[in-house]
Amino acid sequence: MKPDATTIAVYDAKTLDYKKLGPSTDERKVEVRFAQSLTRGGTVLDYGCGPGRTAGYFARQGLITHAFDASKEMVKLAREHSGVTVWQAGFDTFSAPDTYHGIWASFSLLHAVRSDMPVLLGNIHEALKVGGKFYIALKLGQGEARDGLGRLYTYYEEEELRELLSAAGFKWQSHRTGEDVGLDGTLSQLISVLADA
Ligand SMILES: C[S@@+](CC[C@H](N)C(=O)[O-])C[C@H]1O[C@@H](n2cnc3c(N)ncnc32)[C@H](O)[C@@H]1O
Repeated sequence: MKPDATTIAVYDAKTLDYKKLGPSTDERKVEVRFAQSLTRGGTVLDYGCGPGRTAGYFARQGLITHAFDASKEMVKLAREHSGVTVWQAGFDTFSAPDTYHGIWASFSLLHAVRSDMPVLLGNIHEALKVGGKFYIALKLGQGEARDGLGRLYTYYEEEELRELLSAAGFKWQSHRTGEDVGLDGTLSQLISVLADA
């Protein structure tokens, strides 16, 4: 399915507010470890990159860094990071077989509808080289709902995520759970997973 127009309009309008929020300390630690697990000179993709802060960090670590996002305004900000190749696109158009040593999808795929998830994860698996690293962060819960800003979310329980990743060919390595306050000012329960292709 094409990107949800209302969700993307919210990100276009609130780009700078989102940038100010920044990542949690925990996520910063995970991104350091993720970059260290990739060989310098390896190729990494920030999938649904937002303002591109993580992509910029990966580029500074000597990784060949690509990033895409459906929001025109987010793409503009992401392009300010040197060394990052950025393009505007929806998840639905992504296909890059056998290209990446790592793919980082931090709180982006939670905006895909549940029925699209198997195909999107399959395309990500196909885009990774054998043994490539995948990071995915989502909100824990059930069902699909719009938040107070109008963004469309799909929530997952750990078990469903395990099944989806396994069906797409991933080997679950580790996961963390936690909570954080988002752009809409509410507290959410979160899960992030590191998996190997
Ligand atoms: C919560 S932000 C996360 C941004 C970044 N990964 C981070 O951790 O800061 C979600 C991002 O996903 C993007 N997004 C939502 N739906 C998308 C879609 N269908 N295709 C591409 N990007 C999408 C939004 O524009 C937004 O920048």
